[in-house]
Amino acid sequence: MEEKLNKIKQEALEIINSSKILDEIEDIRVRILGRKGMLTEILRSLGQLTPELRNTIGKKSNEIKKIIEDALDAKKDELTKSGFSEIASSEWIDVTLNPAVSARERKGGYLHPLSKTQYEIEDILTSMGFQILDGPEAETEYYNFEALNVPKFHPARDMQDTFWTEDGNLLRTHTSAIQIRGMEKMTPPFRIMAPGRVFRYEATDASHEHTFYQVEGMMVGEDISVSHLIYIMEEVLTGIFKKEVKVRLRPGYFPFVEPGFELDFSCLICGGAGCRVCKQSGWIEFLGCGLVHPNTLRAGNIDPDKWSGFAFGMGLNRLIMMQAGINDIRHFMSGDIRFVQQF
Ligand code: PHE
Repeated sequence: MEEKLNKIKQEALEIINSSKILDEIEDIRVRILGRKGMLTEILRSLGQLTPELRNTIGKKSNEIKKIIEDALDAKKDELTKSGFSEIASSEWIDVTLNPAVSARERKGGYLHPLSKTQYEIEDILTSMGFQILDGPEAETEYYNFEALNVPKFHPARDMQDTFWTEDGNLLRTHTSAIQIRGMEKMTPPFRIMAPGRVFRYEATDASHEHTFYQVEGMMVGEDISVSHLIYIMEEVLTGIFKKEVKVRLRPGYFPFVEPGFELDFSCLICGGAGCRVCKQSGWIEFLGCGLVHPNTLRAGNIDPDKWSGFAFGMGLNRLIMMQAGINDIRHFMSGDIRFVQQF
């Protein structure tokens, strides 16, 4: 009997010591000490022994039981600790690492301020029924000048210094070229707008750039008048600045409109009192516009006796410059990400 007990003890300790998995420990405990465990069977048979033997064997059994229990607990402890250190070394996180300065910092993209403003104006105008048109940046002389009532050798050609290509075409000097392309496609009444990049052969400085952006607008219908033009312009400006903006018209010369105007809006910096931005006048020069010249309508296959219209062309760069207080137009095309990030 005693021998059997020693054997159980030896066997149990061997199993416990060779175990390497924490979850196994409870199974081993059941196998040895559980209701049908090896040691439990011996304890159960004690009743059949003589009182003397029962005493010694019983005592011995309890000792062994205690030794096994201690060994199980110690092993459990050991495996738990080594489990933690394994997690600690494999799932290590440096809590002192600052993600704001780490190499993994992710930067979002930025819309260029010109795009942002262009999209805003597109939203405003399309909400009033204007359809967005596009046209080529490299244009023919016909669409950029001739059809717009600027014949060859007309002095008005000097108003817009032009990049000519070797084959006699040009880089469009204004989005007005799309007026003609638009009229060719549409039947009145219609409202169209055309955003785009335009080019002028100019010496660049803080307020002149060879490449800039315009948005063209045109509305053709029955009895379209200057009051329609003023209304639409006020709506556009109120939409851009999110407050009521006053406009005024001054006479202006553009061969493709008659009458032609320069449109100003009330200075938003000083509210009209006069400041540096509006050069003390209380007004900001904004765009050229007018009622579409009969010759222009004819070039677009539209009968000027039946239809009339207005057109306008606004520069986006100057608008954003005044809105955001930018003092050099060359920032727009500089490609400097720090400029774009500010918007
Ligand atoms: N195309 C003119 C410019 O670039 C602006 C304009 C557009 C004027 C439409 C009148 C009508 O300056």
